[in-house]
Amino acid sequence: MTALLPQIAYCHLSQVTVVGAGNVGSTLAQRILERDLANVILLDVVEGRPQGIALDLMQSRGCEGHNRTILGTNDYAETADSDIVVITAGLPRRPGMSRDDLMQVNGQIVIETVQQALTYSPHACIIVVTNPLDVMTYLAWKVSGLPPYRVMGMAGVLDSARFQTFIAMELGVPPGDVSAMVLGGHGDLMVPLPKYSTVSGIPVTELIPDARLQELIERTRNGGAEIVQFLKQGGAYYAPASATGVMVESILLGQSRILPVAAYLEGQYGLEDLFLGVPCRVGKKGIEAILELSLTAEEAAALKRSAQSVKGNVNAALATLL
Ligand code: NAI
Ligand code: 2OP
Repeated sequence: MTALLPQIAYCHLSQVTVVGAGNVGSTLAQRILERDLANVILLDVVEGRPQGIALDLMQSRGCEGHNRTILGTNDYAETADSDIVVITAGLPRRPGMSRDDLMQVNGQIVIETVQQALTYSPHACIIVVTNPLDVMTYLAWKVSGLPPYRVMGMAGVLDSARFQTFIAMELGVPPGDVSAMVLGGHGDLMVPLPKYSTVSGIPVTELIPDARLQELIERTRNGGAEIVQFLKQGGAYYAPASATGVMVESILLGQSRILPVAAYLEGQYGLEDLFLGVPCRVGKKGIEAILELSLTAEEAAALKRSAQSVKGNVNAALATLL
């Protein structure tokens, strides 16, 4: 081919490393590529798995109509200079298992993978997906040496998407018209906020009777477990990958969206030294701001209960893992 144009100075192409080429990691890689957000490095401890998935995704590029690339690897050196590192490595829940049962085994994996990834991408923003989410995000931050605004956990976007879905199904309206907000830890004590959940601006409390709303809230809290019960092996991954993709997009494109993410609290909501789901402005630098909503006494108490549970698990993890 004869070059007809002078050499073009290409602008920096964003690069996202996804650690863990399992269900969530590989689906997230697909979402990032197909939304044309960044090139992806997919890393896993299992030899051949990330390479095979990457080749498969490369072969779909013509059909999907994008020019992003993906590299599968077992070697952290190949992840160098990533803008974002997403940690999905770890074991998923099996039926009857709580997210907290996963703490020890996944804690070791998260510590190791964050340390390795940051050796090659010391300025990356970290998004943690591995469960138990709020504890793993704390461990990731602790070993990363990064300022807290560069580290965040994905759960609130997923939990809110589930609440949004159930509200839309209940009312027979498009999910895009529904905006839902779920705070707190990613567990049974999460705190869905009907007051801040709306349909085309109308508070959902005006549209759904309280008793029914409580059922939708309960289904939201149980959203992950309901899927585990169906699948028997492994957990949800399409919606988790979509939710993580929303965070990746807001950072890479500097959208500064308000998203519920697990953020490091330093006195906000009367809580400190833990990662917990709260509304944040998420943009180029990571967490640009934490928003403090006014909560009813009941909501504040629920958030405190959730925080206490997370804090207890963080202390247990710190005592055994660091
Ligand atoms: P999966 O089992 O399909 O994939 C996990 C992958 O991690 C496997 O490919 C495994 O080989 C890899 N891995 C394990 N140890 C590793 C290491 N040291 N280095 C690199 N890779 C390693 O599991 P799935 O469904 O993708 O879930 C991943 C994690 O995400 C689980 O902990 C799950 O509970 C969590 N999760 C969290 C959600 C959230 O809302 N925060 C939602 C969905 C899943
Ligand atoms: C979920 O909520 C397993 O945490 C994961 O689906």
